[in-house]
Amino acid sequence: MTKTEAEKRIEKLKKLINHYRYLYHVKDSQEFSPEALDSLKKELFDLEQTFPDLVTPDSPTQRVGGQPLSKFSKARHMKPMLSFNDAFSEQDVKDWLERNIKLLSQPEKENIHFYCEPKLDGLAIELVYSLGKQGGILLKTGSTRGDGLIGEDVTQNLKTIDSIPLRLRQTSDIIKDLEKEKLFAVADNIKNKGLDNLVVRGEAIIAQKEFLKINKEQEKRSLAPYANPRNLAAGSVRQLDPKIAASRNLEADIYDLVTDLGQKTHEQEHKILKALGFKSNNKYNKFCKDIKEVFAFRDFWLKKRQTLPYEIDGIVVVINNNEIFNKLGVVGKAPRGAIAFKFPLKQATTIVEDIKLQVGRTGAITPVAVLKPVKLAGVVISRATLHNQDEIERLGLKIKDTVIVGRAGDVIPDIIKVLPELRTGQEKEFIWPKTCPSCGANLLRLDREVVLRCSNKDCFARTKNSFYHFVSKGAFNIEGLGPKIIDRLLAENLIKDPSDLFLLEPGDLVVLERFAEKSANNLISALRDKKKISFSRFIFSLGIRNVGEVASQDLAFHFKNLDNLKQATLEDFQAIKNIGPIAAQAIADFFKNKKNLEFLDNLIKAGVKIENQQQSQQLAGLKFVITGSLKTITRDQAKEKIFSLGGLVSEAVSLKTDFVIIGLNPGSKFEKAKKLKVKTISEADFLKIVS
Ligand code: IVH
Repeated sequence: MTKTEAEKRIEKLKKLINHYRYLYHVKDSQEFSPEALDSLKKELFDLEQTFPDLVTPDSPTQRVGGQPLSKFSKARHMKPMLSFNDAFSEQDVKDWLERNIKLLSQPEKENIHFYCEPKLDGLAIELVYSLGKQGGILLKTGSTRGDGLIGEDVTQNLKTIDSIPLRLRQTSDIIKDLEKEKLFAVADNIKNKGLDNLVVRGEAIIAQKEFLKINKEQEKRSLAPYANPRNLAAGSVRQLDPKIAASRNLEADIYDLVTDLGQKTHEQEHKILKALGFKSNNKYNKFCKDIKEVFAFRDFWLKKRQTLPYEIDGIVVVINNNEIFNKLGVVGKAPRGAIAFKFPLKQATTIVEDIKLQVGRTGAITPVAVLKPVKLAGVVISRATLHNQDEIERLGLKIKDTVIVGRAGDVIPDIIKVLPELRTGQEKEFIWPKTCPSCGANLLRLDREVVLRCSNKDCFARTKNSFYHFVSKGAFNIEGLGPKIIDRLLAENLIKDPSDLFLLEPGDLVVLERFAEKSANNLISALRDKKKISFSRFIFSLGIRNVGEVASQDLAFHFKNLDNLKQATLEDFQAIKNIGPIAAQAIADFFKNKKNLEFLDNLIKAGVKIENQQQSQQLAGLKFVITGSLKTITRDQAKEKIFSLGGLVSEAVSLKTDFVIIGLNPGSKFEKAKKLKVKTISEADFLKIVS
């Protein structure tokens, strides 16, 4: 990017970020996800790092929070309440450390250690305590961050939070605890100067359990649910009626001792805060002697975040030594000595470089966005599905637009929103062709369908994709037969329909360029081994429109064998519980088509043996989801077992799921199961059930 381009982009990013920050922080609006905002801020931060003279004082990287709401009286902070810069990768953290090291002397460099904490996702608060008229150190003011200098006075609401002491412990008890921790200098300081005007900071949060409970109540009252615990915590603290805050079981974790009591490190601050009587999350925190330990700490919490009672969105890394931390000072809105190392974003912003059309095995044309590569939930993605023509119109998407991408159902990247505010005028409308991009035949839009389809049944792209599907994991599962080999076999006219695969001989393959004898033999024996197949997989392999794995299981269970299935009528299909009208029609059409019946005969002639559906109904109708890795059997074996007993397996957890099998290192499905209160079972439980 040239400097002029960067300058224009920076200008637009600043405007957009400011606007949405205002909506998010000041209005508690849920229109824009904090993750997308983080992604935009990171782009701005990186551009400003490359062109430092383009940093202006009004840049969002240079300021904090939002303006205070006018409905509250204002509370001025004694010291600015800062925010942190974000890191999203180990490299970002290494760069941060590198920048800091340059500013330090040799002895200081050797004395850099870190204190790391789970980063709480709530509302930052400040508490001020002062000497009461009748003695005792009492809570005087509680406030939000606001613009960093002036916040909102939310004392009455914060006073409803049980974990916030309204009065500090007896000074003598505090001193005793500090001495136990060998913090003698701090103890002496308190003895001499007292604790008047003590300032601490932390986070008002709401436990996950409480969040779910409140959302359930919202639902009962037909009110909109809260988007996330942060939003709920913020909404509860930043409203005028303390009764509402009181009813919400908020908590406050305190992590920053602002007043100088002689603390030498951030680690000591947590010990002092505890002695003073605050709830500190220090049992989860860790002193890390080097960056390697920081990365291990982050990896640990990335895996274990769901074991905490509240949500975290990353870790905070603080240079532990306060003298060094203070010497490093502040740049823009953030202290140089700390960084927020965020967990992988489930939403991010990027640019749509192009829109391409894919022709599926059923002829469906799917537009796909070609993205500037971006990291999403820890994986670099460069494609996102656009589903169909209507979706492009609904989004108002043009080529070269900046967009927010996310993962629909945690799997397929999806475009959530276009950011027209960032347009330069160079964006181009996507023009739909009238003909198939693969074979040139006309595109059709069938009745009641939103998708366009290629009208040519022999379209090469369709053929190719039906082969890919036929050998895929849920179908014949033929290892070593990827798209490249299929393309070559098709190009050489060695295969016309998938039954030809089983007639191949090693000699057919070795004549192909770069196919060694050994790999040819391996592939042929893989094909031979897979000729025996369960009935449900067989149905799935046929690639009938709208018949996925679950519908295939239903059909296999219902019809037991191929002859029954072939003789069934449209009404028979319509009567099956999980088969919709479009799928029923597609199945009926499939088995009426002469060419397809020939194909089925060819498969049997080529030696395919279908194992008829077992009669056992032990798991009839039960829906399973598997997450994490299993120890004693493979995932496929577990699936097969479930199918054979009449059960169903799906990818996503929903209220319809009966059991979630939890393997090693379970993923987000485990969290979802807990959220929805779906029964979870271990691998051992599962084996007991099916044995
Ligand atoms: S440490 C000198 N610890 O995240 C460092 N901050 O995005 C004192 N935050 O401004 C603060 N969890 O408001 C610290 N465990 C934690 C935190 C935490 C959340 C907040 C804090 C900060 C913001 C940065």
